[in-house]
Amino acid sequence: MSAPNIETIVSLAKRRGFVFPASEIYGGLGSSWDYGSLGVELANNIKQSWWRWLVYERDDIEGLDSSIIQNRTVWKYSGHEQTFHDPLVDCRACKERFRLDKLQDSVCPKHADVHPGDDKECDLTEAREFNLMLRTTLGAVSTDEDESALAYLRPETAQGIFINFANVLNTSRRKLPFGIAQIGKAFRNEVTPGNFIFRTREFEQMEMEYFCRAEAAPQIHQEFIDGFLDWFDSLGISRENLKLYEQTPEELAHYAVRTVDILYRFFPERNDEEKQFDELMGIANRTDYDLRVHSKKPEDAEGKRINPDSTEDLSYFDPATNERFYPYVIEPAVGVNRTLLAVLMDAYTEKTNEKGETRVILKLKPELAPIKAAVLPLAKNKPEIVEIAKRIKKDLQPFMRAVYDDTGGIGKLYARQDEIGTPFCVTVDHESLEDDAVTVRDRDTWEQERVKVSELKEFLEKRLR
Ligand code: GAP
Repeated sequence: MSAPNIETIVSLAKRRGFVFPASEIYGGLGSSWDYGSLGVELANNIKQSWWRWLVYERDDIEGLDSSIIQNRTVWKYSGHEQTFHDPLVDCRACKERFRLDKLQDSVCPKHADVHPGDDKECDLTEAREFNLMLRTTLGAVSTDEDESALAYLRPETAQGIFINFANVLNTSRRKLPFGIAQIGKAFRNEVTPGNFIFRTREFEQMEMEYFCRAEAAPQIHQEFIDGFLDWFDSLGISRENLKLYEQTPEELAHYAVRTVDILYRFFPERNDEEKQFDELMGIANRTDYDLRVHSKKPEDAEGKRINPDSTEDLSYFDPATNERFYPYVIEPAVGVNRTLLAVLMDAYTEKTNEKGETRVILKLKPELAPIKAAVLPLAKNKPEIVEIAKRIKKDLQPFMRAVYDDTGGIGKLYARQDEIGTPFCVTVDHESLEDDAVTVRDRDTWEQERVKVSELKEFLEKRLR
């Protein structure tokens, strides 16, 4: 089982402290969300899993953390100033604004169930291009109109990697093929943000640019497509909720020769199975476009430098073949927020207890669970029991995220931990005072086992693995 729709997750996320609407006490901001104490842990665990898998477990990838605000020229040569647009239309009747390419996914605010343009009252303008980069001005003396102070919040983390290619290559003394990985915030002035954390104006990306020879690129591309399906599997996302989508030539970005998207079933409630899926990540073969356009040497057909502003040549010299060339780039780009949403949706399960009550269980992989063990005293008015429970929590804490909770009856406490995905509850009861043992309850099976306190850490660590 997985969540029947995103709304179910929105309500769980708010109720239990994963994700809250941002600026809520001032009416919110439409598309912004804040991550609560459990949400931040889950996001961190997803990022750690990605980083560990790519940067630590492989030996051909380096990490990077580049600036959100770069020299504006970066976005000129990357093509974003010229081409990072969405086509917009306004409706003169309802005064609403829509993305031309998403009319079928939008609903007219005046007529429920009608797509903009489909009703005779709709009066759409001609489409016009709208640049998605969020603008700011730098420096104390600047005004909003001052072009020389104009800067952008990065719309992708990728460009920070390309412009640091030579720095990383020279300092790490890497040889092709190798990759550079980065996790960080990106910003897009999306025309139609929505669907909870699926499309927002501020989001987080995990991007890796893998540099290789042109002839090796197609196979490496395929390896990363297969690799990411495996990585999503390791996060507990079931394969039946994932789908590969090969972008058509018309859909490809200006820099790509092939892009395969991995889609997730974010909208299971939709009748049309095709429409249930939307993009979770993209894996592109970006050719040598990026390193070329940021380099000072390449020339156009008339012999003019394509980039007279760059001070660096981002080519690569291969001593084995005596060749100098611009490496190809394979780019797996995945959103942290969409991964978190997919993980929550896929982990969502309902189970009925012996009293006929339906309980939510978040079957998160232990690696991702915000809390690994909750230590619960059966009687909070018994100081000896409370003392043991608090000591157990303290002893576990250096090895795993553990919490102590005595804010309700044991049934309520179990239900709460099930709903936030805690794999194990450890209960200290009256017997514990006699036998130095506790009851460990498994989130998924609700089975209970008696474990000696002295063996508890080892027991949990083994199960969490
Ligand atoms: N460097 C390539 C690039 O940025 P993208 O397909 O535009 O490619 C990669 O973005 C991923 O970032 C998407 O697959 C998605 O997971 C995430 N993403 C993009 N725009 C987003 C938005 N407005 N809100 C949330 N996530 C977004």
